[in-house]
Amino acid sequence: MGKRVLSGIQASGIQHLGNYFGAVRQHVAFQEANDGIYFIADYHSMTTISDPELRRELTRSVALDYLALGLDPKRAILYRQSDLLETAELTWCLSTVTPHGLLERAHAYKDHVAKGLAVNLGLFGYPVLMAADILIHRSDLVPVGQDQKQHIEMTRDIAIKFNNAYGDILTVPDAYIVEEVAVVPGIDGEKMSKSQPDKAIHMFAPEAQLRKEIMGIVTDSTPVEDPKDPDRSALFQIWKLFADADERAEMARHFRAGGLGYGEVKRDLLERVLDYFSDARSRRIELAAHSDTVEDVLRDGVARAREDVLPLMDQVRTACGLGPPS
Ligand code: ADP
Ligand code: TRP
Repeated sequence: MGKRVLSGIQASGIQHLGNYFGAVRQHVAFQEANDGIYFIADYHSMTTISDPELRRELTRSVALDYLALGLDPKRAILYRQSDLLETAELTWCLSTVTPHGLLERAHAYKDHVAKGLAVNLGLFGYPVLMAADILIHRSDLVPVGQDQKQHIEMTRDIAIKFNNAYGDILTVPDAYIVEEVAVVPGIDGEKMSKSQPDKAIHMFAPEAQLRKEIMGIVTDSTPVEDPKDPDRSALFQIWKLFADADERAEMARHFRAGGLGYGEVKRDLLERVLDYFSDARSRRIELAAHSDTVEDVLRDGVARAREDVLPLMDQVRTACGLGPPS
């Protein structure tokens, strides 16, 4: 029997190569032999975005990406987080067993505090909402990029705390992280991120924009003939996502030998990106032209998601002594 695989993508920006290689590619692959359940985290995006129109637009954009990149809504479930109200209910139940100290150790929260930014309860409780997303579906595996590893560990802690308090109800999940693409660098070598769109490469951008993004990958300024270290080159780290093992070894050798023209590698990368995403890019344009498709998929998705979570939510309510006696 397949595993229950669950993951979510925030509706907080336009998706980039990091989202694809670090997450969506695995989500699509898992739908073949497993129960794949994926959702667009529009509640989570409220911790960074407050424009309602923008949130709707980004939610639709993530859904279009998923469908264009091969998610099959007949196999996997795709839904919008805020359509599954039960998640908010489970978030509350979990919050009452989550130690304050656990949340204080979260990287995202600590980064905000370090930057002197105001922290609201939603941002502080972000990992609890994420735990509810995962635990509500009794998920076994959660495919994500490296940056989410701590959140999955917290989910495990929260599930154990809940089970200790109310009985063995929740499944303790595992993270699934593909080491090789755990952190895809942006054009400056730092993690590619939706929050820094000017440093990301967007696979669905018009060709002219994609060219500009790729040409903008930062390369070192040492003389052309000097040997270069491929492991420290954002260009090589991104290029290798589109190359097989032999091509990688050959390119790494070129880097080390010196005399490599970066412009040429960038032009080759652009061709490879366009080629790799060619079908997905045309499919996305077609899908976007049919305004009802996305909403139809999400409506069907949440109906199946709800059916999936109701038995567990009944168990949770009974175990917690909520609602009328059964
Ligand atoms: P972002 O981190 O760009 O804001 P999300 O937080 O919505 O995007 O992440 C969606 C998924 O993509 C998560 O599983 C996350 O770990 C993964 N991901 C995001 N950026 C990268 C990256 N640069 N490399 C690998 N995986 C990434
Ligand atoms: N926090 C995740 C991110 O920023 C998105 C997310 C929300 C998620 N809920 C989830 C990922 C549940 C996996 C499982 O990428």
